[in-house]
Amino acid sequence: MTKIPDPHKAHGAGVKPRRMDFDFADDIPMWWFNGDVFKTILLTAQSCTFPDGERFFIDSVRYFQSQITDPELAAKVRGFIGQEAHHGKEHAALNDLMASKGLPTDEVVAHVKRNLGELKKHMSPKAQLAMTCALEHFTAMLAELALSEPAFFAGMDERVKVLWMWHAIEESEHKSVAFDVYQQVVGDRALLRRQMIINTVTFLFFSAVHFRTLYRKSPRRIGVTGMLKGMDFLIGREGWLRKLGPRYLAYFRKDFHPSQVDTEQLRHEMMSRLQAITGKEAFAV
Ligand SMILES: [Fe+2]
Ligand SMILES: [Fe+2]
Repeated sequence: MTKIPDPHKAHGAGVKPRRMDFDFADDIPMWWFNGDVFKTILLTAQSCTFPDGERFFIDSVRYFQSQITDPELAAKVRGFIGQEAHHGKEHAALNDLMASKGLPTDEVVAHVKRNLGELKKHMSPKAQLAMTCALEHFTAMLAELALSEPAFFAGMDERVKVLWMWHAIEESEHKSVAFDVYQQVVGDRALLRRQMIINTVTFLFFSAVHFRTLYRKSPRRIGVTGMLKGMDFLIGREGWLRKLGPRYLAYFRKDFHPSQVDTEQLRHEMMSRLQAITGKEAFAV
């Protein structure tokens, strides 16, 4: 297959921040994910973790930035910081939209901020970077699953879909950056694995807690059938989380590296689609 040249490699070594300024209009339906309460709240809960979560990722990498001597990785780190900063800003806009529709997104955002603030006080910089690597593996897996299976977005309002597609592209694009920094300045695989186990448990636990916080104020109930359908969406025979099993476990291999799954072609296909939808040059391949 012919490799498509990346015009952005000169700036950020293939990791290029794309400024979006999405306009989340008031007439976006409250249940923008296919009219489905479970799926909309599930993704809104994730969205609430991004503004402060992305800041945590940035800070954990920035702490070691001066120790990066490889110019290509240093450029990627700058690209990574720019991308994550934009993600936080755009997800804050979506969170505001959902707050205006009555979901207590500000409660979840404040909860995330408090928890991460506490973690920062008690975790070493190395452990914080290992936590970023673990969560970057999560976001890369989810992003690349969404990129490879467009059915994931079925029925989502186009104006919200572009946010998730853009975020998925950039998560996939910078998936190796925190890991490479870790390998260069820390290199302790045992800490990396330990941190992944801790973050798997806390990610699932807090996803459920944040879902509940939002759902409590939902004007629409899911009911037992809706909940079972939601669980099927996640862990059923064709469930999205179930599909991630093998890739998740790959993280524990001795020779694991995020780049072992090459999704450049997938990203380029999605970028072309995004360019057609948004008309933004930033997605030119
Ligand atoms: Fe991000
Ligand atoms: Fe990321």
